[in-house]
Amino acid sequence: MPKKYNIAVIPGDGIGPEITSAAIEVLEAAVAKKEIEIFTKELKAGGAAIDLYGIPLPQETIAAAKDSDAVLLGAVGGPKWDDMEPEVRPERALLGLRSGLGLYANIRPVKVYDQLKDASPLKNPGNIDFIIVRELTGGIYFGKNGVYQSGDRLPDGTVKGKIAFDTESYSEGEINRILKIAFELAMKRRRKVTLVDKANVLTTSRMWRTLASQMSFDFPEVELECLYIDNAAMQLISRPSSFDVIVTSNLFGDILSDEAGQIAGSIGMLPSASIGTPGTPGLFEPIHGSAPDIAGQNKANPLGAILSAAMMMRIMFNEEEIASDIEEAVRKTLESGLRTSDITFIGENNNVTLVGTTEITKAVIENL
Ligand code: IPM
Ligand code: MG
Repeated sequence: MPKKYNIAVIPGDGIGPEITSAAIEVLEAAVAKKEIEIFTKELKAGGAAIDLYGIPLPQETIAAAKDSDAVLLGAVGGPKWDDMEPEVRPERALLGLRSGLGLYANIRPVKVYDQLKDASPLKNPGNIDFIIVRELTGGIYFGKNGVYQSGDRLPDGTVKGKIAFDTESYSEGEINRILKIAFELAMKRRRKVTLVDKANVLTTSRMWRTLASQMSFDFPEVELECLYIDNAAMQLISRPSSFDVIVTSNLFGDILSDEAGQIAGSIGMLPSASIGTPGTPGLFEPIHGSAPDIAGQNKANPLGAILSAAMMMRIMFNEEEIASDIEEAVRKTLESGLRTSDITFIGENNNVTLVGTTEITKAVIENL
């Protein structure tokens, strides 16, 4: 009996449909000779769902996602929905999926392929290989927010004009479970955890620091380093290869992972996994956005999505061999000189060929 994996596919908006279908094609090719069957079910979310149903995350989508073994997502959002309020915009779908499925840990590995070193804006990127572990269902993304109307009474008196507010709160439980993931990951790697916070200003950060140093007693082999977010943004550029596992809050993780994407040569290369408690389907998506400016033009880099599918095989289904087959095929494809237009080259490189989404996908499949 072949193993059966049910994958919910949420293409989303912009380049989402192109890159998710590329990833599924690669996945199907990768399992072709194995005793594995992949079943996919396409679901609507984001702007695509707003256009059809008037809401970013239909009940049916969240129900089917919960029902699947794993979710593959493209990207959501675009200028068409830019004027909408945060509560109803396409991005809300992503937040709803993350919280609805309880996906509290976002794992974002950052690696610079040898072949892409000259695409990194860093002069000497060195051996960059770290993982950002981002808290994903708490913090300011999910805190109390709102707008006070003019003249509303506030604790300190009456204010003129409107006041908008967002709040960050973290419980000890939320912090401890994400720290544990980071420390355990570090044990399988170079045994270093960097906590990124703003403990010189924020109360929540102070709690992160306290809990991280407590947890480090349970992991005596792991070195714990604590950096303020502003300093971390700088150190990521000045000594990127010194990082192993970076653990941080929702907002800081969002910011640092885009920075990391650029260091890696292109944000189009980076995959991610969002996971919850064992047994819940994880969500796998490239970290880049929907790139509406190049949507539908066969220009998008599908490698972030393809590598996300590889992460799905490894993390969700324990299919290490399939995951590394896909990663190796991506490496070979880059080695053969194929590049999509997001991978920019500083300096000269005569051995590269600019290709489109379908061509690079085809090459990955051939290299499997
Ligand atoms: C990401 C994205 C999302 C986030 C947006 C689209 C809501 O930037 O996955 O990094 O901020 O989490
Ligand atoms: Mg982001």
